[in-house]
Amino acid sequence: MSLKAVVRGCGAYLPERVLTNLELSKTVDTTDEWIRERTGIEERHIAAEGEKTSDLGAAAAKAALEAAGMNASDIDLVVVATTTPDLTFPSTAAIIQAKLGIEQGAAFDLQAVCTGFIYAMSTVEKFLACGQHKRALVIGAETFSRILDWEDRSTCVLFGDGAGALVLEAQDESTANGRGLMGDYLRCDGRMVDLLYVDGGVSSTKTTGHVRMQGNKVFREAVTRISEAMERVAENAKIDVRDIDWFVPHQANARIIQGVVRKLDLRRDQVISTIAGQGNTSAASIPLAYCQGVADGRIKEGDLVLLEAMGGGLTWGAALLRA
Ligand code: UT7
Repeated sequence: MSLKAVVRGCGAYLPERVLTNLELSKTVDTTDEWIRERTGIEERHIAAEGEKTSDLGAAAAKAALEAAGMNASDIDLVVVATTTPDLTFPSTAAIIQAKLGIEQGAAFDLQAVCTGFIYAMSTVEKFLACGQHKRALVIGAETFSRILDWEDRSTCVLFGDGAGALVLEAQDESTANGRGLMGDYLRCDGRMVDLLYVDGGVSSTKTTGHVRMQGNKVFREAVTRISEAMERVAENAKIDVRDIDWFVPHQANARIIQGVVRKLDLRRDQVISTIAGQGNTSAASIPLAYCQGVADGRIKEGDLVLLEAMGGGLTWGAALLRA
């Protein structure tokens, strides 16, 4: 018996507070025009005082459970991709598990910065495929606003807060109708740590630190590495990248997404983009965009969807699934 990891439902949560480019231009030396032209971002959501990553993640997970028609007792694995945990320990996954009233199974966090959700999907797929767990919540949840230097215009305009979640279920291949995760490709090249990092941490400064990025250097790496990952995943699944129905990219920069679309000869109308209203929500951006595509009726059962991300590490990767 071969088991597939099939998406049963998805959910999203964005904090109420919206921060516009115009508001930002009153506190740092930037303009709405610069941010829109260079990134595609118009506004982003910011978590309220006291609103934690686990609150965002639990809200998204609840919505995903509802969409799947499941409840807490159905879930035996919770994996949270996050770089902005509530606490140094225990994991945000443990906190979310308790908030959801899940009393069985395992829970842990996974840290691959903006590529976290792809890493988490890949990891969870293996747990489900080997039969060890039956139904998993895979959550991407971030409060990046907490680690931004709000005086650094080169980073503070880029990020936002939010959470997205998918319920993945192990289903026998013979009854899954081709649905499920079809493959993934994960990479890391730690020699590029200095391009994008947080200048604090438990064992170094004993502080949380702030995001530091050599944006143009990351930008130069992005299109080539992301495209290569997407092509590799498609090739392994024996499909042509152009045969996909939907492209759900990590939402770091509209110009990176357009560069990938051009390089791989995709169509612009295949892209699910949330960047204008959400900015870069790191590990949450892929499930948020996926949910947007499902909610507005674009992504339908049976559609072929290609996901990709790149982030600190550098890490990067792609995943292919039949919805
Ligand atoms: O999600 C994780 C992965 N992250 C990414 O993939 C991000 C990749 N990088 C990027 O998206 C882009 O590099 C940025 C959006 C961060 C920056 O765009 P850029 O076109 O690469 O600009 P740049 O860094 O080369 O800076 C160009 C100019 C500089 O001024 P000078 O030196 O030419 O006078 C910057 O100081 O733009 C200036 N600048 C700004 N100006 C107005 C940088 N940030 C801002 C700003 N407003 N917010």
